[in-house]
Amino acid sequence: MDLYEYQAKDLFAAHGVPVLPGRTVETPEEAAAAARELGGTVVVKAQVKTGGRGKAGGVKLATSPEETQEKAAAILGMDIKGHTVHRVLVTEASDIAEEYYFSFLLDRSNRTFLAMCSADGGMEIEQLAVERPEALARIPIDAIAGVDRAKAAEIVAAGRIPEIVADQAADVIVKLWETFVAEDATLVEVNPLVRDPQDKVVALDGKVTLDANADFRHPGHADLVDERTENPLEAKAKAKNLNYVKLDDGQVGIIGNGAGLVMSTLDVVAYAGERHGGVKPANFLDIGGGASAKVMADGLDVILGDPDVKSVFVNVFGGITACDAVANGIVEALKILGDSASKPLVVRLDGNNVVEGRRILDEANHPLVTQVDTMDNAADKAAELAAAGISGAGA
Ligand SMILES: Nc1ncnc2c1ncn2[C@@H]1O[C@H](COP(=O)(O)OP(=O)(O)O)[C@@H](O)[C@H]1O
Ligand SMILES: [Mg+2]
Repeated sequence: MDLYEYQAKDLFAAHGVPVLPGRTVETPEEAAAAARELGGTVVVKAQVKTGGRGKAGGVKLATSPEETQEKAAAILGMDIKGHTVHRVLVTEASDIAEEYYFSFLLDRSNRTFLAMCSADGGMEIEQLAVERPEALARIPIDAIAGVDRAKAAEIVAAGRIPEIVADQAADVIVKLWETFVAEDATLVEVNPLVRDPQDKVVALDGKVTLDANADFRHPGHADLVDERTENPLEAKAKAKNLNYVKLDDGQVGIIGNGAGLVMSTLDVVAYAGERHGGVKPANFLDIGGGASAKVMADGLDVILGDPDVKSVFVNVFGGITACDAVANGIVEALKILGDSASKPLVVRLDGNNVVEGRRILDEANHPLVTQVDTMDNAADKAAELAAAGISGAGA
């Protein structure tokens, strides 16, 4: 889960990283009140989960509460790279002598963690990484050894952070590592980390990605979820403990058991879709090992709730949960859903107890269900039905 800047900086502050005081608000009037409270010049900052807010006009200085109100009114409701601004952070303005870049991240390709540091931070960091990669130091971090003062000093030197703030920067880096580890993050980024004219170092921006696999260790992280921007179907699936993922521009809903089978089902449907006017997967849901009627009903409910879905492909390979149990699950699920199940289902069963499974579905003879024996043919049928659903809807 990605955090907003204000949430990232709250975590930084909790771990002793220097940040400036601020208030997160949702209306121009509240922004003015926040500016009055903070006093002096403030910065109004769009809170959206994407970078480049500065360049998009989502970060503005204001010298009075009135001006803060105007700037907030301009920024609230703005669209930044497809993200609508619902909140702004009103924070103290810092004078800036220099801007540095710093991050810790999970480096999957090298199976380690990585620190990145540069004395040339700020809004042009992407350009720097391409044009002068040598100016962006990359230091692998051993997960067990972690980052102590000595390691932090090495990172600071490699990033060519000036001597005058080297100690402070190293201190910040140790604390950011503590944040990274304690919060189970996969990314902690500060850009810019600034030196002010009094040579004090402070984090002016913050980006944190938390590892959802570690959520069980962090009950508090649930409070960081922003329901407003979460996809409602993903939220519903999560509440039911289902692994559901929404995809862009597709029409075929996909339910399968096991990540490998689901991934190959996506490929097969996309391939088949080319023969049917470019139909594609709309979403997918992995029902895992225990495909009980309840899990199947919950799964179908979520998949059918996606208005983009025109047909559903249920692709199950019976293993520990055999095909007859899955077939019963589908029949029961359709009973539970009743009239709310309204789109055609293509079911392909194979594996353990497949004969019995197919018999159960044949016998139930549900008008929405078509059985197809092979994965390729089933994908083709699902794509065909989706294409028919699109033209039938007049789209
Ligand atoms: N509190 C602040 N005081 C002064 N300048 C700021 C402050 N926050 C951000 N800035 C300036 O705005 C730029 C963009 O802000 P930042 O938070 O990094 O957003 P983004 O990375 O999304 O563009 C920063 O590089 C910095 O120069
Ligand atoms: Mg930034």
